[in-house]
Amino acid sequence: MSKNNHTLAILKPDCYRKKLIGKVIDKIIEAGFKIQKMKMVHLTKDEAENFYEVHKNKDFYPELIKFMTSGPAFPMILEKDNAIETFRELIGSTDPNEADEGTIRKLYADNVRQNIVHGSDTETNAKREIKFFFDSEID
Ligand code: CMP
Repeated sequence: MSKNNHTLAILKPDCYRKKLIGKVIDKIIEAGFKIQKMKMVHLTKDEAENFYEVHKNKDFYPELIKFMTSGPAFPMILEKDNAIETFRELIGSTDPNEADEGTIRKLYADNVRQNIVHGSDTETNAKREIKFFFDSEID
C-alpha cells in the first residue's frame, strides 16, 4: 500500500452537542473515506493537554482544553489515497469564516475553536495521533 493512506479525525464535542455526528459521518463516507476504526471518548484534561501539546504556548490553549473535555468526542482512523490532504480539503480551514463553501466547517462550525472536526495535518502527526487514540501503527 502506498504511503499517506490514513489520517486521524476527531468529531469534537460541539459536533455531538449539535446532533451532527450522523451528518458529518455521511459527508466523510460520501467523500470516499473508509472508517477503519472509531470510538467514543470523553477526554480527560491530561489526555487533551497531551494530544494538543504542540499548542501549549498559544493563548487559545486553555479554552481549547476546556472545550475538548466538555463532552463526548469521536476519534476515527480514516483510510483513502492521500488521506491527510484530501480530508483537510473536505473539512476546510480551521476558521469557518475562511473555509471554502461546502466544506464541513463552513457548513457546521460556529467559530475557530468550536470547529466540529479535527484532521491530522502531517504524516508524522497522523501516526502520532493514531497511536494516541488506538495504539495502532499504521503507514
Ligand atoms: P484542530 O484542527 O483540532 O487543531 C487545533 C485546534 O485549536 C483547532 O482545531 C481549533 O479547535 C483550536 N484553535 C486553533 N486556532 C485557534 C484560535 N485562533 N482560537 C481558538 N481556537 C483555536
